[in-house]
Amino acid sequence: MSEPTNPEVDVLDAQTPVVPHPTDEAGIDTAVQAALAAFAAATNLDELKTARLAHTGEKSPLSLANRSIGKLDKSEKAVAGKLMGASRGRVNKALAARTEVLEAEDAARILVEETVDVTAAPRRRRAGARHPLSTLQDRVSDIFVGMGWEIAEGPEVESEWFNFDALNFAPDHPAREMQDTFFIDPVDSHLLLRTHTSPVQVRSMLEREVPIYVLCPGRVYRTDELDATHTPVFHQFEGLAIDKNLTMADLRGTLEHFARQMFGEDASIRLRPNFFPFTEPSAELDIWHPGAKGGPRWIEWGGCGMVNPNVLRAAGIDPEEYSGFAFGMGVERTLMFRNEVPDMHDMIEGDIRFSEHFGMEI
Ligand code: PHE
Repeated sequence: MSEPTNPEVDVLDAQTPVVPHPTDEAGIDTAVQAALAAFAAATNLDELKTARLAHTGEKSPLSLANRSIGKLDKSEKAVAGKLMGASRGRVNKALAARTEVLEAEDAARILVEETVDVTAAPRRRRAGARHPLSTLQDRVSDIFVGMGWEIAEGPEVESEWFNFDALNFAPDHPAREMQDTFFIDPVDSHLLLRTHTSPVQVRSMLEREVPIYVLCPGRVYRTDELDATHTPVFHQFEGLAIDKNLTMADLRGTLEHFARQMFGEDASIRLRPNFFPFTEPSAELDIWHPGAKGGPRWIEWGGCGMVNPNVLRAAGIDPEEYSGFAFGMGVERTLMFRNEVPDMHDMIEGDIRFSEHFGMEI
């Protein structure tokens, strides 16, 4: 609400209002005229309110004069009552008329000020788009859920024990340096940002009853510099199956099915010997990518193997009774060769034009 700015409105001296005697016709008329002048001078409803309070409010000369009628003699009371009644009637009538005029003006002004140009081009709010990394993660999860697997999660700030020790990395084993780790201060807290999703293998084994079939998609961290093919923060998905009599054939069959779901019926996989402390035997997983840019070819996809008996033992599972397999792949890497994203920067910049281009399905 704006402050009244019209100086003419405040025609009364608020400090020393002259209160006429309620039988003083000329004095009362002066007060009435002052009120009428103030109402007429008000150019908007705010100013009119100020004028109304000054001339009809509790402390206004007319109200005070009216109130003093009570103290008059009987003979004077009738005269004063009649005079005051007529005067206040004039004031109220003028006030009502002025209110009506100013309200109408106000309504007209609002109509003009708030006019909507229905022919103007609308300003659309741009719809968002899911990031293709999320969409891809969901797709991978769906494939495994479709096979009856469950989704498992673990913390990104992980204890060194889950990330390394329980996974059979010996304290001074060079394999610990395979992954460049962000350790969390103070070092003796033995906390770190998990370097892979494999600690969720151990957590799942400790938290769940065997048999276990879990997929864990999640964010992982390594001290890599950001370039076209590396980023210090990325995503993996980890698979773990623990059951009686699981063999390398089950691992192969599962990965083959998964590969076909992701890359089409012509896709296949190949396992090459490799080393991970937490699997034995371990293998590098290659995918035959029929739709690869530049023609079908083998592409390195991730790591896998049979869960090392030491890991089963660390998680309280008897390796004589149960066996298991595990695998892990990078989501960014998968998106790169599956959807032809040559530069990692595009995935992390958060430019909506990149995400939009993938749509809701990938
Ligand atoms: N955790 C391994 C990595 O980050 C991948 C892997 C997972 C290997 C499960 C074997 C089994 O490189």
